[in-house]
Amino acid sequence: MKHKIVFMGFILFLFTVVVAFSNTGLERLDNSEFQNPHRPGAVFEHDDHNEMAEIDDCAVCHHVYEGKKLVEDESSEDSLCSECHSLKVTPENSIPLDVAYHKRCRSCHFEANKGPVLCGECHIKL
Ligand code: HEC
Ligand code: HEC
Ligand code: HEC
Ligand code: HEC
Repeated sequence: MKHKIVFMGFILFLFTVVVAFSNTGLERLDNSEFQNPHRPGAVFEHDDHNEMAEIDDCAVCHHVYEGKKLVEDESSEDSLCSECHSLKVTPENSIPLDVAYHKRCRSCHFEANKGPVLCGECHIKL
């Protein structure tokens, strides 16, 4: 019994070490939608970011459109950006996924004069 507990403790210790070192501690956006991404996924700590940037309206990022018209007071946080923004321009989507992200994220940082605007500040090396 005692051996078993010590063994389990050891496994737990190993697990913690592996998790601690396999992860830089930064939360990143999932970039798997992009085939062969050129850059490491952008750093984005969702809740902390929005709190720090004082964004309380989810629709600032998770918007809803009807055709080409923005629908006010509705949000789409249950959808991924890629569900509407395909990689390439199509008749339904004139804003490809990378442009959608850069336009949303970087433009606000430019305008607010706060937050990262350089490539390597968002696509931080793994
Ligand atoms: C404000 C943050 C931010 C900045 C600054 C930024 N990006 Fe991005 N970029 C993103 C996000 C978010 C995505 C979409 C998901 C992902 O890749 O993490 C993305 C996606 C991309 C993609 C498509 C995915 C891939 O890896 O192939 C490329 C290429 C890219 N960015 C290049 C750049 C370059 C070059 C610059 C500088 C001129 C830059 N980005 C600056 C946030 C940023
Ligand atoms: C600054 C932009 C921004 C704001 C503001 C924001 N989000 Fe998000 N959120 C994102 C991005 C980017 C993702 C990742 C989307 C993707 O991978 O396609 C995401 C993902 C999510 C997801 C997971 C979606 C999924 O299907 O996996 C949920 C849930 C979510 N957000 C809820 C919220 C809620 C609730 C609010 C408001 C309180 C909010 N978000 C505000 C940018 C934002
Ligand atoms: C329910 C579908 C849908 C979802 C989900 C969605 N979008 Fe959009 N988005 C659209 C449509 C439609 C347009 C208008 C396209 C046009 O004008 O051709 C648009 C336009 C945009 C624009 C340009 C207009 C503007 O507001 O600046 C940006 C940037 C953008 N989306 C970013 C995002 C990001 C980032 C996400 C994920 C957090 C996202 N979108 C999720 C449908 C969606
Ligand atoms: C409506 C404005 C706005 C939008 C949209 C926005 N940001 Fe920001 N972001 C800010 C502000 C403001 C700060 C600086 C907060 C501070 O330092 O007080 C910031 C800071 C950051 C930082 C540095 C601090 C941290 O959380 O690590 C990163 C990284 C970042 N943003 C990534 C993103 C990405 C990726 C997106 C798009 C998915 C995004 N931001 C969309 C306003 C915005």
